[in-house]
Amino acid sequence: MNILVVGGGGREHAIIKKLKENPQAETIYALPGSGGAAQDAVCVPEIGAKDIDRIVDFARSHAVDFAVVAPDDPLALGCVDRLHEAGIPCFGPEAKAARIESSKVFAKNLMKKYGIPTARCEVFSDSAEALAYLKTASFPIVIKADGLALGKGVLIPQSLAGAEAAVKSIMEDKAFGDSGNQIVIEEFLTGPEVSVLAFTDGRSIVPMASSMDHKRAGDGDAGPNTGGMGTIAPNPCYTPAIAAECMETIFLPTLAAMRAEGCPFKGCLYFGLMLTPDGPKVIEYNCRFGDPETQVVLPLLKTDLLTIMQAVENETLGELQVEWRGGAAACVVLASGGYPGSYEKGKAITIPQDLPANVTVYHAGDAAAEDGGLVTSGGRVLGVTAVGETLEAALETAYAAAERIHFDGKYFRHDIGRRALNEIERQALRAAEV
Ligand code: AMP
Ligand code: GLY
Repeated sequence: MNILVVGGGGREHAIIKKLKENPQAETIYALPGSGGAAQDAVCVPEIGAKDIDRIVDFARSHAVDFAVVAPDDPLALGCVDRLHEAGIPCFGPEAKAARIESSKVFAKNLMKKYGIPTARCEVFSDSAEALAYLKTASFPIVIKADGLALGKGVLIPQSLAGAEAAVKSIMEDKAFGDSGNQIVIEEFLTGPEVSVLAFTDGRSIVPMASSMDHKRAGDGDAGPNTGGMGTIAPNPCYTPAIAAECMETIFLPTLAAMRAEGCPFKGCLYFGLMLTPDGPKVIEYNCRFGDPETQVVLPLLKTDLLTIMQAVENETLGELQVEWRGGAAACVVLASGGYPGSYEKGKAITIPQDLPANVTVYHAGDAAAEDGGLVTSGGRVLGVTAVGETLEAALETAYAAAERIHFDGKYFRHDIGRRALNEIERQALRAAEV
């Protein structure tokens, strides 16, 4: 089988590596892929993930049998719709269903209409009305641009003055472009955050191992927001009781709501949850695998990924038994100095050949150098994942490997998983008390 993966980050590399485990997978193409992913796939750096016309032409001319569209932009632009029109089976939602991520207003209205627990909110398309509303609000408050904004469209001002400035910057100065034509202003929730990625064919849903992202650039959650500096799975805050509650109050109702709206969701649906004192609530939906969540979730998957993805496309997911290995996984992202602000590129990367077998290096922001090696080309350069019997073991192995990989300006967080380890300890103490 010829398989096509659209995208070029660490998430896509993790998907490619997993697909490769199926002996039926002959050639895997990655558009654009990355320097390091070329070890596992035929990368085509000239074709970007948003070049829908060229992606469809490529799939046709290279006899692609199955395509996986991983990033949000091509999904929102209708890449899956176009590949389907060309007769190519795909994993990923069509544009109508991708609105669950590409329009926060769509997602919030869906949750409101179908009683899915989320933060109370108001939607505004006029800045004067939004500013008037703020005068009656309490702080902190959460202000979100409607559309895709590279994960940066969420502001949490602590005061009225800060909130007014945020509304003006999004709606009047268009800090996130047209994404800010409409905004959502919502109540500030508190509690641990959990990411749950789930396979769904629109009717059946199979949640994957839960995970925890670390979005801030610096240790102790200091510094600016990033695309994600590291992840662990499973997330210890997500207990079996909470998982059962989420299935009942959030996952199944979301699937039913999307069907009722005429846009059944097929693909990977990502639930960004907050475990509030009033129960689990949806912070956001994503219409795709998370990055770097995928780099810890897929290594724990025992069942063949291609088989699952085909079952999603054929709407036979309910007939499949999806299995997970025990233990835990941790991913430490190695970033370019300066990220998420500006950073230098073109730094030579050295990765030892003798990393332990339970370590996988996922390539995200690198490119092939003229001498055949790899150089940095992006902010998040590599994701170093380790699996282990315990989270502690996985973290120790991932960090030991991260230390041995070099490029000028390399930086990473030193506290990935610390909050999760504290939670595991707290639960153990509590169990010992009872
Ligand atoms: P999002 O882009 O929707 O994932 O939001 C980015 C981050 O903002 C989330 O991971 C949360 O940490 C935070 N956030 C979003 N909405 C809320 C909310 N209603 N209350 C508290 N924090 C929030
Ligand atoms: N890691 C968060 C995301 O993929 O949106």
